[in-house]
Amino acid sequence: MRFATKPIRVGQELDQDHRAVIQPLYQSATFGWTGLDNIPKIDYTRCQNPNRQTLEQVIASLENGDHCTVFASGMAAIMGAFSLLQSGDHLLVASDIYGGTFRVAEKLLPKWGIQVTMLCTKDLDGIEGHIRPNSKMIIFEGPTNPNLRIMDIRAIADIAKRNGLLSVFDNTFASPYLQNPLDLGIDIVVHSTTKYISGHSDVIGGALVTNSQEIHDQMFEYSKTVGAVPSPFDCWLTVRGLKTLAVRMKQHCENALAVARYLENHPKVAKVHYPGLESHPDHALAASQMKGFGGMVSFEVDGTGEDACIFAEGCQIFLLAESLGGVESLIGYPPLMSHATMTEEQRLAKGIPPTLIRLSVGIEDVDDLIEDIEQALAKIPTRQTVTV
Ligand SMILES: Cc1ncc(COP(=O)(O)O)c(C=O)c1O
Repeated sequence: MRFATKPIRVGQELDQDHRAVIQPLYQSATFGWTGLDNIPKIDYTRCQNPNRQTLEQVIASLENGDHCTVFASGMAAIMGAFSLLQSGDHLLVASDIYGGTFRVAEKLLPKWGIQVTMLCTKDLDGIEGHIRPNSKMIIFEGPTNPNLRIMDIRAIADIAKRNGLLSVFDNTFASPYLQNPLDLGIDIVVHSTTKYISGHSDVIGGALVTNSQEIHDQMFEYSKTVGAVPSPFDCWLTVRGLKTLAVRMKQHCENALAVARYLENHPKVAKVHYPGLESHPDHALAASQMKGFGGMVSFEVDGTGEDACIFAEGCQIFLLAESLGGVESLIGYPPLMSHATMTEEQRLAKGIPPTLIRLSVGIEDVDDLIEDIEQALAKIPTRQTVTV
């Protein structure tokens, strides 16, 4: 089955009672036994549920993986991956990683005796220098937030394999439509299904995908033990959202490229970060491992932080809100939103100046999006440069 067919057909036979085309919602905490010697395959929703099972089958198939475990959030999924570590182990974390992952690595894991090193995963030659005898795992992602840098997934997976590390890749920003990290040698793929996978900003969820039966068994045991599981309705909504992933992603990519090109030629814009632009430092790498360049664009206004705020608050179709990956376009101001917990110095070191804006480009008519950007940029006062 090809990609666009999978979310519509995988695991979704007609329902046996009424031949319903869409799987019914099994909003039930528990399932009846026919006898004490006949344990039902699904007996309690914290352990498994038919809607969850379908979602897991669909996500596994889209990532070309053998197994998937879904969770109540992307963060719960990341915690699932970290549950494979134990006290005394060493974890390598890409410095360019989602803030929530960073918080767990910085604040929680050391309390449990897990050593953590943050490292630049763009520097392939430098990675091995950080590996210790007790190193067990490396976690990284790409396109990164908010500068949309691309990591060489195959090269990093190879380094991990050579050194006996589990490789974990957060594929949230790309979605399985654009890249399949398991095919490039990654051991565990993470998703915040809140984003492109569900696609409609109406559900919070997460997923882990792997080809290893052993890892999958551990993830199943972990999820049922801690109970960080999604509700049947959240799974049902996510399956529904997934059916249009392929068409949504094509439109996200097309709109984002048009927005990026428009911004690149605007006099009030100093710099545009979009891997689909030839000017992006990782354009060739992105083209080699991704099927498209995604729906996220960030840019720096040619002015001050105050100008960036005028722009962020001046948009009308782009909504000022956290998150990404939904059909609606969102605008984020990283210094006060996604990266607000960092100091300005830390942000500058990560390439996040006060003039940076992040866009999650939706699937609306792109002319409306560009007109919205145009009118919001026009609100930034034009300053005279005085030459003496
Ligand atoms: C790349 C990435 N990974 C993980 C997460 C966490 O996902 P959730 O909010 O579903 O817990 C996010 C959330 O923004 C994210 O951007």
